[in-house]
Amino acid sequence: MHSTLAFTGACLSAALAVASPVDYSSNNTSNGTAVPNFSLPPQNLTSYGNNSLFTQWRTKARFRPSSNHIGDPTAFWQDEQGVFHVSGLYSYLRGPNISITSSIGGALTSDFLSYVDVHNYTNASLFENGVSIGPGNKNDPLAVFDGSVIPKGYKGMPTLIYTGVHYLPISWSKPYIRGSEVQALAYSSDNGATWIKPDIDAVIPSPPEGFNVTGFRDPWVFQSPQFSKLLNDTPETWYLSVSSGIRQVGPRLLLYRQNSSDFTSWEFLGPSVSTPVNTTFSAGNFSGNDGSNYETSNTLFLDEEGENLENGVNFVTMGAESGRKTHSFHYSLWKMGKFVRNPLNESVILEDHATGVLDWGLGYACTTMPDYKTNRRLGFCWSNDDYNATISEQVGYRIGSGGVYSIPRELYYKDISGVVADDLAAENGYWSVATGHLNTTLAKDGVAMAKEHGNDTVTLATLGCKPAREILAFRKHANHTWTESDFDVDVKSIKSNCSNVEFTQKEGVTQAFIPFKQSPHSRRWELQATVQIPASSLRNEEYEDFAAGFTILHSSASAPANYSVDDAAMLYRPSNETFMITRDVALGSDNVNTDPEMGKLRLWNVSSTDAHGKQTYSIQSLNIRAFMDGSFFEVYVNDVLTISTQIYYWYKDSTRMGFYLQFPDTMKNSTLDTGVKFSNVSVWEGVPNVFPKRPTNPQELIDNGVGFVQPPNNPNVPLTYDGVGAPPLPPPENLPYGIDLSTVE
Ligand SMILES: *[C@@H]1O[C@H](CO)[C@@H](O)[C@H](O)[C@H]1NC(C)=O
Ligand SMILES: *[C@@H]1O[C@H](CO)[C@@H](O)[C@H](O)[C@H]1NC(C)=O
Ligand SMILES: *[C@@H]1O[C@H](CO)[C@@H](O)[C@H](O)[C@H]1NC(C)=O
Ligand SMILES: *[C@@H]1O[C@H](CO)[C@@H](O)[C@H](O)[C@H]1NC(C)=O
Ligand SMILES: *[C@@H]1O[C@H](CO)[C@@H](O)[C@H](O)[C@H]1NC(C)=O
Ligand SMILES: *[C@@H]1O[C@H](CO)[C@@H](O)[C@H](O)[C@H]1NC(C)=O
Ligand SMILES: *[C@@H]1O[C@H](CO)[C@@H](O)[C@H](O)[C@H]1NC(C)=O
Ligand SMILES: *[C@@H]1O[C@H](CO)[C@@H](O)[C@H](O)[C@H]1NC(C)=O
Ligand SMILES: *[C@@H]1O[C@H](CO)[C@@H](O)[C@H](O)[C@H]1NC(C)=O
Ligand SMILES: *[C@@H]1O[C@H](CO)[C@@H](O)[C@H](O)[C@H]1NC(C)=O
Ligand SMILES: *[C@@H]1O[C@H](CO)[C@@H](O)[C@H](O)[C@H]1NC(C)=O
Ligand SMILES: *[C@@H]1O[C@H](CO)[C@@H](O)[C@H](O)[C@H]1NC(C)=O
Repeated sequence: MHSTLAFTGACLSAALAVASPVDYSSNNTSNGTAVPNFSLPPQNLTSYGNNSLFTQWRTKARFRPSSNHIGDPTAFWQDEQGVFHVSGLYSYLRGPNISITSSIGGALTSDFLSYVDVHNYTNASLFENGVSIGPGNKNDPLAVFDGSVIPKGYKGMPTLIYTGVHYLPISWSKPYIRGSEVQALAYSSDNGATWIKPDIDAVIPSPPEGFNVTGFRDPWVFQSPQFSKLLNDTPETWYLSVSSGIRQVGPRLLLYRQNSSDFTSWEFLGPSVSTPVNTTFSAGNFSGNDGSNYETSNTLFLDEEGENLENGVNFVTMGAESGRKTHSFHYSLWKMGKFVRNPLNESVILEDHATGVLDWGLGYACTTMPDYKTNRRLGFCWSNDDYNATISEQVGYRIGSGGVYSIPRELYYKDISGVVADDLAAENGYWSVATGHLNTTLAKDGVAMAKEHGNDTVTLATLGCKPAREILAFRKHANHTWTESDFDVDVKSIKSNCSNVEFTQKEGVTQAFIPFKQSPHSRRWELQATVQIPASSLRNEEYEDFAAGFTILHSSASAPANYSVDDAAMLYRPSNETFMITRDVALGSDNVNTDPEMGKLRLWNVSSTDAHGKQTYSIQSLNIRAFMDGSFFEVYVNDVLTISTQIYYWYKDSTRMGFYLQFPDTMKNSTLDTGVKFSNVSVWEGVPNVFPKRPTNPQELIDNGVGFVQPPNNPNVPLTYDGVGAPPLPPPENLPYGIDLSTVE
């Protein structure tokens, strides 16, 4: 590889000093009082007091409640004023004898840069009630699970159709008690601030006759001119899907049609998605696994810009349970294809042309809402915390807050034209082939058709997923912005040309960290970059252990040699087409999950015509946007791969960033092309506080209780209160273990 001026620039500059020095010799973990002062990591995070780690890794620019736990994003909608209602399953941190007891609570936003809690802090001296709808009535005695909103529904008011829970626990891995989950209706006369439960029965009281379900929840309401046409319905007809599965048979999405104008009656049509148990659509693991039960499914109609109900390509997103060994057995999936009339019943059924993973990391239970003003479909995924499972619940109490949402993501129909019509494009994966505008087919059929027509390229079609355009404005909140010079490097030149590279050697593999000229001082930033890897490295066994990317946080250079470090990187491994996030943090695996995150990403061989009309071929680059906010990290690559994760760094000064190259030691003498080009590298440090109206004092945020009556310890005994909307907080003696307010005073 030739060395350039830029190359020298990146290599010879000294890394600027980062955050103030830390005391490497002492820890500071006085029990229950102090937030640690970034000294040596504790052997066991549970040695801290409840709530004492509240501010430790807290995000600033993400939706989350002031405290306690947030689960699935749900009941999202946009009101007539264009205001977005962002909400989720909200509950106490769970104690040993406390059942799940989810309610729904949320906030309002117009721009995703600033949210106002629906139940806000006008009277900060009181516990405010963060709940819009809680459990306790005849249709939802134990918990409220996910729902979705018809803006003008029951009595013309905003209407929530949601799952009411009667028995717990509910799991794909346990026998299903019939009647555990029903679909219930509530409406709002205050624009969604509280939901009123009319005195009516559940609108879908049980799964269809003869279905041995693994789950029956998360109703999703939608209108669809395409469905109406296929089913001979009026275009205004509302449909509803319930996420489900048939035991031992496979996951199902169950389709219903509105059967009364007030939305209190729904008719079952048949499954709209039907997959055999444990389906792996792609032989190369590009499509995850459908497992045995679907959750939180959305049905979408998308074009290149976003939503297009009339002509959009058909997509379904879903959480798929049980087909994964890690990540709580969860895959966050999507499918694209074509809904066709099912000849066997009254339903439409999806012809699956491609299956992909919506978020390869912790991101799960993704849900969407429309932006009518711009015809966009905006999705959010939920990430839970990721501590070592044996102490996870205990650590949750030390933090006093759990769960966070991704930034909003724009989902759209993405096509990639000029892709060489070879066996790689013909595989089953997260891509299909476009056979015309907004018309797709299975990749192998599309590639065969192209070849028949003498075409040597195809247009691939897939789900596009990118940060919502509003998020560009995060950059206006940066207090430190810079661009790194373009940088070319290869295995041979790295040692001789770069003076300040830090090498780590492990089992015959060298990891090279080449610090940026500058690094952030905090863990709140965006990094944007382009990386080009050698074409010959893709799917090539000779490149086993060769990878390139960025170090995203690394301990100070002045740290003692024998000291545990924080080290995290994002990298692409061309030999097995895997994008990885490593998270070797000082806290170690006894405290937090340090397993790398991985997602499969295929870089296509794309043809283009140059200025002289000559056809040229090149491998796609990696176009990366990565966002760090506290411990929460999200990366978007080429609008087709998304990974969210938690990186629980420990040291205040482990903020160094740089280029990253990894290679087997044997590669030093080989003639293989190992040249990697890094370009357009920019960093914006600093993010907005998206809850500017909340108190800044952690105590006040922690005190903000969930505010609905807890069920008794036997979760299967119904509650007796008949509250509407948001009942008052339980008396202190009923506060669950883990909300020990005394430790923060
Ligand atoms: C703090 O350091 C002391 C002495 O080094 C050690 O015994 C103790 O376990 C440490 N505390 C934590 C929480 O790691
Ligand atoms: C950490 O402490 C908890 C109790 O608070 C205990 O259950 C767990 O085993 C400890 N973990 C380690 C690695 O010592
Ligand atoms: C921390 O304090 C609690 C309550 O005061 C006590 O039960 C516990 O043993 C203490 N833990 C340590 C590690 O000192
Ligand atoms: C708090 O909510 C009330 C009622 O919804 C609203 O009138 C008020 O403007 C809000 N206050 C703030 C500070 O957002
Ligand atoms: C449902 O499951 C039960 C218990 O496993 C079994 O007896 C019954 O035959 C199943 N019904 C159907 C329709 O598969
Ligand atoms: C599906 O996969 C799970 C997990 O690997 C396994 O336990 C189960 O037996 C499989 N089910 C069927 C019907 O093959
Ligand atoms: C879509 O493509 C298929 C071939 O896969 C073709 O049969 C069909 O007519 C096309 N539909 C439209 C509306 O163009
Ligand atoms: C073949 O290429 C032509 C010209 O680009 C295009 O119009 C046609 O749709 C392609 N056919 C297939 C099957 O890809
Ligand atoms: C930018 O703000 C962060 C706090 O968000 C701070 O840690 C950092 O030092 C600031 N950077 C500069 C260059 O002022
Ligand atoms: C890619 O290879 C690495 C190293 O062998 C391995 O750790 C990782 O699991 C592989 N990725 C996938 C998705 O198989
Ligand atoms: C979690 O911590 C325990 C020790 O408490 C350890 O044995 C186990 O391997 C850790 N789990 C993981 C996945 O590292
Ligand atoms: C690479 O070549 C150098 C000099 O030619 C030799 O000293 C070294 O042992 C070789 N290294 C490997 C890993 O083969």
